[in-house]
Amino acid sequence: MKSTLFIDRNQAISKIDPRMWGSFTEQLGRSVYEGIYQPDHPTADEDGFRKDVIEAVRKLNVPLIRYPGGNFVSGYNWEDGIGPKDQRPTKLDLAWRSKETNQFGLHEFMKWCQKVGAEPDMAVNLGTRGIDEARNIIEYCNYPKGTYWSDMRRQNGAEKPFNIKVWSLGNEMDGDWQIGHKTAYEYGRLAHETAKVMRLVDPDIELVASGSSLRTMPTFGTWEETLLDHVYDDVDYLSLHQYYDNYDDNLAEFLGKSVDFDGFISDVVAVCDAVKARRHSNKRINLSMDEWNVWYHSKADDGKQAPWQEAPHLLEDHYNFEDALLVGSLAITLMKHADRVKIGCLAQLINVIAPIMTNTTGEPSVWYQSIFYPFMQVSNFAQGIALKSQQDVPAYKAKDYDVPYTDSMATFNPDRDELTIFVENKSKEKVEFESTLANFDVTGIVEATQFCGYDIKKTNEDQSMKLQTLSSITVSDNKVSANLEPLSWNVIRLNAKD
Ligand code: AHR
Repeated sequence: MKSTLFIDRNQAISKIDPRMWGSFTEQLGRSVYEGIYQPDHPTADEDGFRKDVIEAVRKLNVPLIRYPGGNFVSGYNWEDGIGPKDQRPTKLDLAWRSKETNQFGLHEFMKWCQKVGAEPDMAVNLGTRGIDEARNIIEYCNYPKGTYWSDMRRQNGAEKPFNIKVWSLGNEMDGDWQIGHKTAYEYGRLAHETAKVMRLVDPDIELVASGSSLRTMPTFGTWEETLLDHVYDDVDYLSLHQYYDNYDDNLAEFLGKSVDFDGFISDVVAVCDAVKARRHSNKRINLSMDEWNVWYHSKADDGKQAPWQEAPHLLEDHYNFEDALLVGSLAITLMKHADRVKIGCLAQLINVIAPIMTNTTGEPSVWYQSIFYPFMQVSNFAQGIALKSQQDVPAYKAKDYDVPYTDSMATFNPDRDELTIFVENKSKEKVEFESTLANFDVTGIVEATQFCGYDIKKTNEDQSMKLQTLSSITVSDNKVSANLEPLSWNVIRLNAKD
């Protein structure tokens, strides 16, 4: 089989917002406790943060991290997580039926973000709370000094304001599992009024309204439309969430989910633009894909967990090779929508449906899941400009879609003079891949890797999975060719000038 890709330096989709490769950490399971924060761990630093985890997160180069939830935020009182640790209350977290000790809170998160080099995307609770809480937390975080809340922040050790730029207005308010679930009308009204007070305190913030929790939600479409009628002028981004599973154990169908992901994004863009047209507005709403991943391996076991534990083992999916292939092709899909998707959060980051896993004691203290590798490559190398990439390849029929046998995309980073081609082979056969590079002067290969050869159900507890060298690559006359291994994720980095 042959697959060709035509790339032209003069045909760009858009600049890629680096925040496309963000992530998400929720006060859930062992994401924070035993993940980020474990004061008695041998690698813990002066703040109780695990240095082994900081190092792993830095490798992923995540520029933005959403926090503190997720479903958790809809029952959370942020004030419980500030002030002296010995005075913080232990409470029931009803979202995950766990015990929350509040030993990790706002200041700890902000400090940890600095250490990993990420900016926060802070969610406010629009489930049990609302306007009043939101105006207080933003005064606490972003107002310099001389008021009740800003001076409390200073007393708690942060003299300078945090100046948090990105704020999420609640979480998955369309889902009946959500604490304080609302109709689109109810949420739209609340989000509008909350945005209003938040901007009165700090007009420079960026706001994300909570869109659909899944494409299959019965309210999908009307939720966005009704919500945007209320908040179109107040917010910068509309969120969307999507998780995929392979309960049917059907590889071809599973790898075809990237087509669904693509359709979901296009549908949300269409609704945003329809509302724009109806309002005669010049403003464009962009998207925040602030939860995306595979999630299903742990669900049956999670149902058997005893309630009200501290830091229980919840949502600890162990990802296999086919999951890594899907994550790679979902990432390619995000790049294709770089003109509208400005924020993305792989959900989540540590231990909870995560690329990074920790052991509480013993070795290895940290291990990387299969999905770590494709995500690490896109977060580091899919930077700069997303190029329109015209692919020609046969497709196979899945239940709902025609799925191209390869997924490919190119990005150009003018700061590094680097052109990167991401190409995934979803077929069980080798593919002859050839890319024509118009209006580029290619001077060499920086690195070419493949990720392949593993049993599709293989997980990576033994840490044997590695990126391998893609040695079949040739570059001549502005053409790049390579033989793609069956079921492979490939990244070709070239020195190129425009
Ligand atoms: O990421 C796990 C959960 O998935 C989040 O808490 C929620 O927002 C979503 O349903």
